[in-house]
Amino acid sequence: MGIQITPSILNADFADLGAEVARIGSADWVHVDVMDNHFVPNLTFGPTMVEALARATDVPLDAHLMIEDADRNALAYVEAGCGSVTFHVEAAAAPVRLAREIRAHGARASMALKPATPIEPYEDLLPELDMLLIMTVEPGFGGQKFLDLCLPKIRRARELMDKHGVETWLQVDGGVSLDTIERCVEAGADVFVAGSAVYSADDPDRMVAELRAKAEAATA
Ligand code: DX5
Ligand code: ZN
Repeated sequence: MGIQITPSILNADFADLGAEVARIGSADWVHVDVMDNHFVPNLTFGPTMVEALARATDVPLDAHLMIEDADRNALAYVEAGCGSVTFHVEAAAAPVRLAREIRAHGARASMALKPATPIEPYEDLLPELDMLLIMTVEPGFGGQKFLDLCLPKIRRARELMDKHGVETWLQVDGGVSLDTIERCVEAGADVFVAGSAVYSADDPDRMVAELRAKAEAATA
């Protein structure tokens, strides 16, 4: 599939999200951070707003669910029109069943790991997943500093994917910018969330292009 850039709207203007997503027309996906004020200490949007957002853009939605009880709540985001739904393994009682349900309802199934959650216990789940998300900040807020300590885990995840021969995408989220994206590529990531880097730029879509160019150059 190659490099994909998935800007997060967490740092966009929430009062004007339709216009904000129109500013990133060249993005591969729009990354939508769903937070419930329990799994993380921040609150964003629910399925009704996500459904409205899906109607407002042709770019597919990549939902990142930072919510408790993912088993019961994730399918609402498939029904809201998201093409990819990521749940946190720390919030899922039955991650295999949940990934299968997400796929059965027609979306890509993805699982996220917080910085302190290891990949090794989940090696055998990789064939069940369309994407693995490795957080490179503690989830909850945009604009945090990239955690280099997560790079070895990205590398190990890529090795495990190669070992299993799976096509699972490897997404990184948190502190991704022109300064840090090359490190992520070199470690083996191929899908890049960038929130503040994109929405603090004068021209968000140009930043998407710059991030893509830098990542592609690092791949070569
Ligand atoms: C953080 C969110 C991220 C966030 C990234 O919990 O999951 O998607 O928006 O923002 P930056 O790119 O500013 O770290
Ligand atoms: Zn996110």
